[in-house]
Amino acid sequence: MLIGVDIGTSAMKVVLVDDGEAVVADAELPLRPNHPAPLWSENDPEAWWRAVCDGLDKLAATAPRAMAAVRAIGLSGQMHALVALDAEDRAVRPAILWNDGRSRAEAAELAGLGLDLQRRTGVLPMPGFTGPKLLWMARQEPDAFRRTRTVLLAKDYVRLKLSGERATDVSDAAGTWLLDQARRNWCDEAVAACGASPEMLPRLVESPEPCGVVRPELAARWGLPRGVIIAGGAGDVAAGGIGVGAVQPGDAFISLGTSAQVFVADDAHRPQPELLVHAFCHALPARWFRMAALLNGASPLAAAAQWTGGASVATLLAEVEAAYTGPSRLLALPYITGERTPHNDPLARGAIVGLTGDTSRADVVQAIAESVAFSLVDGLDVLGGGGAPPPRLALIGGGARSTFWAKMIASVLGVPLVRYSSSERGPAFGAVRLARLASGGEDPAAVVVAPPIADTVEPDLGLHDAYRPRVEAFRALYQALKPVWPSVSL
Ligand code: XUL
Repeated sequence: MLIGVDIGTSAMKVVLVDDGEAVVADAELPLRPNHPAPLWSENDPEAWWRAVCDGLDKLAATAPRAMAAVRAIGLSGQMHALVALDAEDRAVRPAILWNDGRSRAEAAELAGLGLDLQRRTGVLPMPGFTGPKLLWMARQEPDAFRRTRTVLLAKDYVRLKLSGERATDVSDAAGTWLLDQARRNWCDEAVAACGASPEMLPRLVESPEPCGVVRPELAARWGLPRGVIIAGGAGDVAAGGIGVGAVQPGDAFISLGTSAQVFVADDAHRPQPELLVHAFCHALPARWFRMAALLNGASPLAAAAQWTGGASVATLLAEVEAAYTGPSRLLALPYITGERTPHNDPLARGAIVGLTGDTSRADVVQAIAESVAFSLVDGLDVLGGGGAPPPRLALIGGGARSTFWAKMIASVLGVPLVRYSSSERGPAFGAVRLARLASGGEDPAAVVVAPPIADTVEPDLGLHDAYRPRVEAFRALYQALKPVWPSVSL
């Protein structure tokens, strides 16, 4: 038996899985980030820990015999957080999350240090990353910064609480802008540039390495055996890749969760910071990945569900499907929390243009669903360097559930999308596989494999042609609205 824990942005998920990878029990608890000022996005690390405790309490109540047979726990979580702890391991302030744009001046200043440093750290410094946020804190909150002894990522705060271990894995450290990605070690120059000292940073391990043991009193609370190992674990993007076996060079997928990524695995570090590609350590040794990181995946549709009175996203998409005749006349931008690839623009916002007196709810939702597909074209273009698109891509994450939206995305991209039967398991499932490797003896090539394929969603090539000019109009709309962003986002 193995446990996977994923500290997401809007939910914490735990899953208890047997050695045949069948789910025995799982639990999901909501998380509610706070937005106390424009561009700010924060959460209390204690809220993550409470959710993990509640989730494991539930597993202990529903599957006590399976809990007594657990060998290891794997951790995954939202990347890029800044969790700053004092000498007693208390948070000196709320954690600053990946979709927080406050450090844009610091990120721009760090970008001025040049391309060589960006190649080493794998990416242009952008405001959501831990390093620029540390520099912001050093300047804007000097008291809190002075009290900071340890800087951790979201899942590693949970590790500290579970085991007392102060550590992170290279795939999560990759998103801090403080890691030398090729050497898989902290980058002294970037650490110094962000105002930090090396003593603040946790020990680094590879994702499938054992890294911590569950405290005896917690093991007793959940009916776990003594000595349950905690794996290094992974940032949620790399964990998603492990979950679907995307580890060989060229293995590619689109992950459509709250945020979205276009991901390609690689066997070398190949940075392209000038294109806003993120070239990060993967969650197996000697593996890396390149990704286009889109901050707005399914979240603009979830927001639309709120604006339009609370119907579920599934209901809204069914409404669009029933009325669908081809590309919308409306044009939307999905950038409700700014955008990283390809814009590096924390001030960008959502937009809908072309409204008339006849516009329906379905028209608005269709335009938003299309805008996410258009931004995936931007992501794929950046990763492909303008060359031919890959012959096929996997589609994973909650957004993969709607066949209608998947078909729209396949058609806009002009690429077949493969869906796995276990696509809903996500990063927690990847964390389970890392736990399995940490508990010993197995060959990663035998464990980290692709799940069975559920179906392949083929593009409609007629629609692909019809959508092509809409992608151009979408790009023009972003450029046209750029001067407006400060007046609507600050
Ligand atoms: C990846 C990213 C998000 C977060 C939250 O670069 O910012 O995917 O990991 O899920």
